[in-house]
Amino acid sequence: MRLSRYFLPVLKETPSEAQIVSHRYMLRAGMIKQQSAGIYSWLPLGFKVLRKIENIVHEEQIRAGHIPMLMPTIQSADLWRESGRYDGYGEEMLRMQDRHGRDMLFSPTAEEMITDIFRAHVNSYKDLPLTMYQIQWKFRDEIRPRFGVMRGREFYMKDGYNFDLTKEDALHAYNRHLVSYLRTYERMGLQAIPMRADSGPIGGDYTHEFLVLADTGESEVFYDSEVTDLTFGDRDIDYDNVAQCQGVMDEFTSRYARTDETHDAAEFDKVPEDRRRVARGIEVGQIFYFGTTYSDKLGATVVDKDQNQVPVHMGSHGIGVSRLLGAIIEASHDDKGIIWPEGVTPFHCGIVNLKQGDDEADAACEALYKQLSNAGLEPLYDDRNERAGGKFATMDLIGLPWRITVGPRGLKNGVVELTCRRTGASEDLTPDAAVAKVIKIFEPHHVRGL
Ligand SMILES: Nc1ncnc2c1ncn2[C@@H]1O[C@H](COP(=O)(O)OP(=O)(O)OP(=O)(O)O)[C@@H](O)[C@H]1O
Ligand SMILES: [Mg+2]
Repeated sequence: MRLSRYFLPVLKETPSEAQIVSHRYMLRAGMIKQQSAGIYSWLPLGFKVLRKIENIVHEEQIRAGHIPMLMPTIQSADLWRESGRYDGYGEEMLRMQDRHGRDMLFSPTAEEMITDIFRAHVNSYKDLPLTMYQIQWKFRDEIRPRFGVMRGREFYMKDGYNFDLTKEDALHAYNRHLVSYLRTYERMGLQAIPMRADSGPIGGDYTHEFLVLADTGESEVFYDSEVTDLTFGDRDIDYDNVAQCQGVMDEFTSRYARTDETHDAAEFDKVPEDRRRVARGIEVGQIFYFGTTYSDKLGATVVDKDQNQVPVHMGSHGIGVSRLLGAIIEASHDDKGIIWPEGVTPFHCGIVNLKQGDDEADAACEALYKQLSNAGLEPLYDDRNERAGGKFATMDLIGLPWRITVGPRGLKNGVVELTCRRTGASEDLTPDAAVAKVIKIFEPHHVRGL
């Protein structure tokens, strides 16, 4: 992409309505535009990151054996009356009527609909286990939408649902989700810690929230500092291997890590004092085993080996795809702007031409652009007639992790400058060497772009 042809409405002023840094930078970098309270347009740069995040979520869900599908955003109230949640959900549910006076709603989640699909088509234990998921817009009429995409009213969520014959099988599905989530967040450059959460009116011990530590987080969290030493890394996981998934589960959840809702001071006191941490976190996902709650209400049963009709064991598992943009920026920025982790960056590398219109500099930039593009990377070439300072400020604000700077002086010595956004470190390299280095950096981060 050439910046002269792109749509990047960067703001010079800091928008006064934005209280936290991620919201400020998303507005300033021209990623989103608010259209109503908690409802945003995703401008090209924001949309690109959203797609990157979405694609990582897809890749990791498919790797875990979960099946993608899509359900409608507008749903009939009847289904929600069957589960009792039409009245139970409260004011967060956006309700409407169609022209025939039928009650409809904008889906805040989809347990009812997926259970309806299941009961219509699955009858036998032989068709289990089954896990399907979607990445779809949700609407919750939050009383206080704020912090930009972090607490929107319309937001993009991955919601997955497992159907299993037994509790034991369903807990394997639960573990599979935990493992796949660990991988997912790490690929986005995030540490998201699974913490024991509150299962609400449904009850049970099987729910974890994934929290990214950040001062601006809305949840208070209590944990043993050893949990922050754990990394998932590049493990080879067989998602059908029950013991292996359980092993990861135990490794990542055996130490104390809880949100304020489940915090237990007596238990916390057992953690050695120098390892006790109280902090704030952003919830970027949640996994939940709830047994037969919905299958009982909606009649989702299968016949088992002995020809008995039994309700299936279910769980639902969410990732806040649009909230993740905010969470990543909260975790990765400086006073100049965003610093995208390699896995989610909207463009892989910026190219800054210090002297637009200089034949040699222009030609060198074009050549870099071509080489990077041919390697399957997406460079963003700032080909505008602007001062170098302005170009650097834009690149720093929008947070591309690598930048190649091209100017007549360097070219005389046969070099361009490669700069790392995170460390600020620069090195002079031949154009070929700079391209080779950038290609190598992104090799482990191959995510489909747009
Ligand atoms: N209003 C929202 N805006 C953006 N993302 C959201 C919003 N509500 C939930 N999410 C994301 O969707 C994920 C799954 O939804 P879930 O039903 O668990 O949300 P929740 O527990 O109600 O969230 P919260 O406690 O933050 O309101 C959450 O972990 C979060 O990352
Ligand atoms: Mg939650």
